[in-house]
Amino acid sequence: MKKKISLAVVGATGLVGRTMLRVLEKREIPIEHLSLFASPQSKGKRLEAFGHSVEIQNLADGPFTADYVLSALRNSLAEKWLPRFRDAGAVVIDNSSYFRMKADVPLVVPEVNADALQNHKGLVANPNCTAAIASVALAPLHRAFNLKHLIISTYQSVSGSGQKALVELENEITDISFQPKVFPHPIAFNLFPQIGSFNDEGLCVEEEKIREELRKILSAPELFISVTTVRVPVRVGHSLSIFGEFEKPISVAGAYEQLHSAPGLIAMENQNYATPLLCEGRDEVFTGRLRSFPENPNALSLWVVGDNLLKGAATNAVQILERLL
Ligand SMILES: NC(=O)c1ccc[n+]([C@@H]2O[C@H](COP(=O)([O-])OP(=O)(O)OC[C@H]3O[C@@H](n4cnc5c(N)ncnc54)[C@H](OP(=O)(O)O)[C@@H]3O)[C@@H](O)[C@H]2O)c1
Repeated sequence: MKKKISLAVVGATGLVGRTMLRVLEKREIPIEHLSLFASPQSKGKRLEAFGHSVEIQNLADGPFTADYVLSALRNSLAEKWLPRFRDAGAVVIDNSSYFRMKADVPLVVPEVNADALQNHKGLVANPNCTAAIASVALAPLHRAFNLKHLIISTYQSVSGSGQKALVELENEITDISFQPKVFPHPIAFNLFPQIGSFNDEGLCVEEEKIREELRKILSAPELFISVTTVRVPVRVGHSLSIFGEFEKPISVAGAYEQLHSAPGLIAMENQNYATPLLCEGRDEVFTGRLRSFPENPNALSLWVVGDNLLKGAATNAVQILERLL
């Protein structure tokens, strides 16, 4: 029997935190002691987990002791609080972007680069939701055909920005004059090519994260990647249109051969494709609409969809925990 662990879930009341609790239960992670942390506003409230009602603690009050920590805090809070757990001996798996690009922190998608876990120093980063979903589809193709160029356009759901963003969408649907606070524009009946603020290169934060994180996960620091991220009025599920150019020639049949045998992936054939609604609640990443080009035998286009709260966050984090156990 597996050893039972003490586990702290931090940011437990948020979209990712609640989803992690569901995934922990579903995957029957052996937990001896579970503590749930959130903001002072949630102190004393309760959440259902593993058939029990568990009281939520104010994170700032501690205690900062556990064997493992699953965290779903925003960056500034992750920076402030997570080292406390690590310094007290816990292994921390973090969903924020604060630690992801640090050289001594592995950025892990278990189907792609589980080996990187061997070098952890008490902190493991869970990737950006879109980068995680993309990497599951791209890694098998990269291994077989060597990626050279990637052009990605994303269609990202509102839940990618947390609980308040979902409430904003609902409010706008019922009241067209509702003033957005989370997003820079109304998202109901709309879309916009901006996720986060812009940098000097003209990239928004999400575009920069996807580019840098994909390079790290795929161990391809020189890979050319152009990303345009678009927020769309979908509740859950991120979709990507990907054009890849490879060093070796690639055919649709050759690509399917790799995708069909890849873990965590469902490769749909014959003009079939996934939608966010189809993928909501699923742990796998879905690919479809593979197209090759007679003018360029080294290029392939494909459609990719995944649940941002599951493979893009909670499932991936719990899979990392499983590997560590
Ligand atoms: N949503 C996604 O698809 C996704 C995917 C990958 C990664 N992530 C990352 O995961 C993290 C969480 O995202 P989310 O979507 O779950 O956000 P969320 O729904 O807004 O949840 C935020 C959590 O942080 C807690 N919190 C806020 N202020 C706090 C404080 N002062 N002290 C302690 N806890 C505090 C909240 O507790 P209260 O309820 O008490 O306020 C809540 O549990 C972010 O870093 C995000 O970038 C999100």
